[in-house]
Amino acid sequence: MEPSSTQDRILILDFGSQVTQLIARRVRESGVYCEVWPYNKADGGRIAGFNPRGVIFSGGPASVTEGESPRAPAEVFGMGLPILGICYGQQTLAAQLGGVVEGGHAREFGRAVVDVTGECALTHGVWAVGARETVWMSHGDRITVLPPGFRVVAESEGAPFALIANDERRTYGTMFHPEVVHTPHGAALLRNFTHDVCGCQGDWTMGAYRAQAVARIRAQVGQGRVVCGLSGGVDSSVAAVLIHEAIGEQLTCIYVDHGLMRANESEQVVATFRDRFNIKLVHVDASELFLGQLSGVTDPEVKRKTIGRLFIEVFEAEQAKLGGADFLAQGTLYPDVIESVSATGGPSVTIKSHHNVGGLPDWMRMQLVEPLRDLFKDEVRALGRELGMPEEIVGRHPFPGPGLAIRIPGEVTREKAELLRRVDTIYLEEIRAAGLYDAIWQAFAVLLPVRTVGVMGDGRTYDMACALRAVTSTDGMTADVFPFSMEFLTRVAGRIVNEVRGVNRVTYDITSKPPGTIEWE
Ligand code: XMP
Repeated sequence: MEPSSTQDRILILDFGSQVTQLIARRVRESGVYCEVWPYNKADGGRIAGFNPRGVIFSGGPASVTEGESPRAPAEVFGMGLPILGICYGQQTLAAQLGGVVEGGHAREFGRAVVDVTGECALTHGVWAVGARETVWMSHGDRITVLPPGFRVVAESEGAPFALIANDERRTYGTMFHPEVVHTPHGAALLRNFTHDVCGCQGDWTMGAYRAQAVARIRAQVGQGRVVCGLSGGVDSSVAAVLIHEAIGEQLTCIYVDHGLMRANESEQVVATFRDRFNIKLVHVDASELFLGQLSGVTDPEVKRKTIGRLFIEVFEAEQAKLGGADFLAQGTLYPDVIESVSATGGPSVTIKSHHNVGGLPDWMRMQLVEPLRDLFKDEVRALGRELGMPEEIVGRHPFPGPGLAIRIPGEVTREKAELLRRVDTIYLEEIRAAGLYDAIWQAFAVLLPVRTVGVMGDGRTYDMACALRAVTSTDGMTADVFPFSMEFLTRVAGRIVNEVRGVNRVTYDITSKPPGTIEWE
């Protein structure tokens, strides 16, 4: 999907950096549409077709001094486009324009300080001459001879050419990473590039996206019928409301309730989609089927597979009852479809697939409608707000497809699920009351398969134990433990043990990811 022809766009050529996506996020946060392409998928023709206002070269793991290392397509330097090279991108830019890059110098990793020695359009209004500025570096090689026409604007001990500029060519290079938060003025430097150097207007808003996406969905679907598997999560919910805005009655949502949702979640899905947005919704209560088939199952993988298989069976049966459909809607996001450059920087590219329990298999072979393919998670949330969706859905923590089943180690039963829901509700109530919900990526309770001895009043108890988990994260790939105060944790524990009969002990999971995972199974 592309923005309208009048909208400014920036092209990011990826050389395999771990943080390339952050460049895209910073550019978009400044209101400019951008796409990430592998460096070796871009040639003059494709770039001209995309018609960017400027090009950014990402960092990457390779060394310019090695023979086979990646290079930017030569044509890009002759198109009159502004260029910003970051880290490896700066080095290949320098080498390709006639400078010299050498390895074997002192390596710089992490926080560094640069001295600002000059001015250029990139630093205008952000860094003053004579200032010492904090940046984040990660490199071994460095430029030793500048390409003709370039001058140094900032230098550090390990990188005498920390920022180089050629205002005439509108070409810049930074040895440091402006896209990471550890470079405090990095976003402002990038904004200077996109807005001042490239002349972008910053008019890529969710309001504009909404109108364009609606037009594209109408053009794709025509008079066809679309089904959407609703999970209650943010992505499928926003996709459904957007598609409904585009094609109304041609959309039917199917919500397969496996009986392992959080408290009131099913009611909320029905209330929101059917009652508030007037979307055709099939609500299937399949809890008997799911819980029946999970009876006696304790292995986490078997649990996941059982739930995944049943989900597809139920979804297919419901869809058949509707008389079939032409399109399947999915809440696929941009990080799922960005083609990644392999770690060696070599030419092999892979596409990350969007696979999890609650997803549908390839053999369903319906054409896909994926209106969120261009968006990052925070943009999906912004779009949901733009569409008038309630904050409880738009701001909701991620919830796994297999639901509470993977938060009940051991056999899953209806009674255990109910017990866990009550614990979870108290925990989340307290988190919201303390104003912490939005600071946490995910918070939930786990019902442990152990019984422990306790004392309540004059009596001895022998009941179940639970664990509480809360983590911060940006994408779920890594996670840190959320540092609740002891006062908060003891208050929650007190409420759980007093209010949930059957649970007499509460623990807090303090494992980061890695080595732990976020979910327990
Ligand atoms: P883990 O436990 O692997 O989880 O650290 C990372 C993130 O993914 C979520 N998760 C899932 N989401 N279907 C989903 O839709 C699944 O099968 C699934 N398993 C884990 C998890 O909640 C966390 O946000």
